[in-house]
Amino acid sequence: MNDLKIKINELKKEKKAVILAHNYQLPEVQEIADFVGDSLELSRKAAKTEAELIVFCGVHFMAETASIISPEKKVILPDLNAGCSLAESVTTAELKRWKAEHPNAVVVSYINTSAAVKALSDYCCTSSNAVKIVESIPAEMEILFLPDKYLGSYVKAKTGRENIVIWDGACHVHEKIGEVNFEEKKQAHPKAEFLIHPECGCSTSCMLKSLQFNDDSIHIFSTSGMINYVNESPAKEFVIATEVGILHRMRKDNPGKQILPASENAVCDYMKLTTLEKVYEALLYEKNVVRVDTPVAEKARLAINRMLATG
Ligand code: 13P
Ligand code: SF4
Repeated sequence: MNDLKIKINELKKEKKAVILAHNYQLPEVQEIADFVGDSLELSRKAAKTEAELIVFCGVHFMAETASIISPEKKVILPDLNAGCSLAESVTTAELKRWKAEHPNAVVVSYINTSAAVKALSDYCCTSSNAVKIVESIPAEMEILFLPDKYLGSYVKAKTGRENIVIWDGACHVHEKIGEVNFEEKKQAHPKAEFLIHPECGCSTSCMLKSLQFNDDSIHIFSTSGMINYVNESPAKEFVIATEVGILHRMRKDNPGKQILPASENAVCDYMKLTTLEKVYEALLYEKNVVRVDTPVAEKARLAINRMLATG
């Protein structure tokens, strides 16, 4: 594996490439990346980097977003099969029908959507800025929020806004992290801080419960929000409700803290498709280039740029 790491680093320098990796990537992939982060941070890095070649270790919609933001750069995805069940839970035909039923509504799409869906949207958002984006839209305007019903419900509860209609989509990994699992963990680890991703099945009920019972051990965060919280908190025990790939960096950076997954089965197989071998091959042959057709990219860029400007 070390040989491969050396070869990737040499190739990266030679080609002046940058490697971006999501917080859910395999540990060895995170280790060779120039930057590891959540969806919003990776979008910002892709926009700012001077590198002309971006190796995106994540899933397809993330590479598409990077390519839309920087169409002059070459964005490669080490495995083109790295999809996302959440992004697949809404099609452009479905969105067109939904918009026709709500002709005056503003469409807010989670970043976990295809470029074509973003092109039909007014705003894009990620888990770390969804509340802020919704708050920036005039209160009287109806909002169509898609595709994640849990993130949507969380945003609705947090903003207290009634005029949000939510699409019935979900991520197959986070949906399973629900109430039962959470309650068991809370009893087993009474002193732990609970960090919950808003895509989780339990996110809204957990947030409401924490408000109702004044329980300040429950926090809802994006993946990087969780990492920052663990780094800065004086607490010694944490239960993390999201994909288990995030535990690598948390544990490495906080050796004195006990960091447990809410569910060991919360594994995103799409994220785990990226291996060092695939990174090396993609970089060597500059293959698996992700590009978005110009008319779609231009429309999607408006929604993404509105997000980058707001959040
Ligand atoms: P973050 O934006 O919090 O990294 O989430 C992305 C994702 O795909 C969560 O499943
Ligand atoms: Fe998509 Fe869920 Fe995987 Fe995130 S964890 S990339 S939302 S399938």
